Amino acid sequence: MNYNLVLLPGDGIGPEIVAQAKRVLEAVATRFGHDFQFSSHLIGGIAIDETGDPLPPATIEACKSASAILLGAVGGPKWDDPSAKTRPEAGLLKIRKELGLFANLRPIKMFDELAGASPLRPEIIKGTDILFFRELTGGIYFGESGRSGTGDDETAYQSMTYSVGEVKRIVRMAAKAAQGRSNRLTSVDKANVLEPSRLWRQTAAEVMKQEFPDVQYDVVLVDSMAMHLINRPADFDVVVTGNMFGDILTDEASMLPGSLGMLPSASVGSDGPGLYEPIHGSAPDIAGKGIANPLATILAAAMMLRHSLSLNEEADAIEAAVAGVISDGLRTADLARGGDSIGTEAMGDAVVAKLA
Ligand code: NAD
Ligand code: IPM
Ligand code: MN
Repeated sequence: MNYNLVLLPGDGIGPEIVAQAKRVLEAVATRFGHDFQFSSHLIGGIAIDETGDPLPPATIEACKSASAILLGAVGGPKWDDPSAKTRPEAGLLKIRKELGLFANLRPIKMFDELAGASPLRPEIIKGTDILFFRELTGGIYFGESGRSGTGDDETAYQSMTYSVGEVKRIVRMAAKAAQGRSNRLTSVDKANVLEPSRLWRQTAAEVMKQEFPDVQYDVVLVDSMAMHLINRPADFDVVVTGNMFGDILTDEASMLPGSLGMLPSASVGSDGPGLYEPIHGSAPDIAGKGIANPLATILAAAMMLRHSLSLNEEADAIEAAVAGVISDGLRTADLARGGDSIGTEAMGDAVVAKLA
């Protein structure tokens, strides 16, 4: 089959990790007889440098007609000036909104051999397998914002809104996923303080009662969830939450498998192409050094094959190859915790070799 895959390498380590994921996809194409057509487009800081716009129209066009999109990361200190007209991150938020990607799936899966890479004790993380559904196109990220006043009276605001429809569609998607797993769903909010969270909680409860009475359902406040994730992570199955809470809790959850460099994600809507990316950022502190872990992006490529192209066997093959290199003891620096490590390209080589 012929597929049109758009690559958005972006900034910092983005180009380094996307290059390895591309090689892995090429190895899959060879092994399974597919024709993957790749095209790379600008997003983020590099797009600002070259066009003045973090999401140029040509990138939007290419994404809209893609079979699927694989993104590296955007952002970095070069574009961090708080008074700048625009920021790299604005490009990422805009492409999510333009494509209607309201659900961000972030699986937290353990590799037994990586138990030593986690800062948590092995007996705590054992058996952890969580699937987060982070709402991605609403909430405080997209709320009205602005500044007024001067001096000590200068004030900034950003409002948080959720509509019933926005909550229903993400809760439904998460509940359906729970039915295909251990049939348990946890909704995370801050309903003791925030009005949008109260609407979220009420709406989620109605959806669950009316449409998913068979799914074991509970609610947890976000501050408490931050603690439970570290204390008893194996108790959770599917977790659904808003945009900002999901962002924060999943970076925290990355310490269960041991590194931010291991966590992939899928951003999907009700139709059209999905966007796949690691959950981590552009890692400016290690960019250009050739030491970034490419596995999150490689695992995101596997999610892309499964969710957008229905190439399940191919996705399984990538995940098996990643598990294989881990069980062979290969580690990038983020996983090695001071022990022997290999670089980004060598890790890519190892995954490609497993797929051959
Ligand atoms: P970050 O995720 O880039 O890095 C946090 C820490 O994790 C750093 O020490 C980094 O070296 C390490 N790390 C991240 N990915 C790694 C990998 N693959 N291998 C090894 N180590 C890895 O977060 P940050 O430093 O807070 O943000 C840097 C920039 O990235 C900011 O501009 C931020 O806005 C942006 N960002 C972008 C995305 C995205 O594009 N989706 C996500 C998060 C942050
Ligand atoms: C992520 C990132 C982004 C987010 C930023 C860069 C806009 O942190 O993908 O998790 O907050 O959604
Ligand atoms: Mn994030």
